[in-house]
Amino acid sequence: MKKILILDGSTRKLGNTSVLLQHFTEGAQNNSVDIEHVLAKDLNIKYCNGCLRCNLIKRCSIRDDDWEKLSQKINEADILVFASPIYFHYVTAPLKNIIDRFRSFVHVQITETGLIHTPWNNWTKDFVLLLSLGSSDDSDAQPVIDLFEYMKEVLGDNNKLHVIKATRLAVIKQVQKTEEELRELYPKLMLDENLAKADFKKNQDVLKECFDLGKELSK
Ligand SMILES: Cc1cc2nc3c(=O)[nH]c(=O)nc-3n(C[C@H](O)[C@H](O)[C@H](O)COP(=O)(O)O)c2cc1C
Repeated sequence: MKKILILDGSTRKLGNTSVLLQHFTEGAQNNSVDIEHVLAKDLNIKYCNGCLRCNLIKRCSIRDDDWEKLSQKINEADILVFASPIYFHYVTAPLKNIIDRFRSFVHVQITETGLIHTPWNNWTKDFVLLLSLGSSDDSDAQPVIDLFEYMKEVLGDNNKLHVIKATRLAVIKQVQKTEEELRELYPKLMLDENLAKADFKKNQDVLKECFDLGKELSK
């Protein structure tokens, strides 16, 4: 049975990120899976303090927070889902805080030309990025995608990255609104209401993409 760990960077309830996750989860539940959902902002995760002791002791030296338990779940998961609204071209702060603690999963050596990263455990995992953007253009998600392209390389030879981006989403649950609801909403967002038809289809497609990915990966 595959283990799925969802690291959810949402900051508001019933946001579009939550809807993407819901569809991914429903797809995954077509198979027999063990799914755990963690809301990053609800965890007690301290900031990485840059002590670099992880390079010597092979784990994070901060002991009085939720990281030890979470890091065990991360290590055990077959599928790691990172879901977040895009905030200033990045994931939200609670999720970034967790990502910084991933430093303790690797040994880092400085060379004359850069850095060499060697993971303590050579992972074979599926990394999933579910990203919700306000912009009509998905390029604001690129810094996050670049980071994860790098992370999946650093953390093992056989990790795979799957990315789903949902664009032009401002208000809660917008991604699942009907065409009529979008037509009513768009003038309030100063958007042309004639976009509603195509956007309804685009949103339905992205939700199906989430469902299908959940179903496919959890086989
Ligand atoms: C602080 C803040 C920063 C944001 N920065 C960006 C951004 O850089 N690019 C973008 O496309 N959308 C940006 N947005 C919009 C959100 O990413 C977008 O509305 C997203 O769909 C919200 O997801 P949610 O419904 O799950 O909360 C920002 C929103 C906030 C509140």
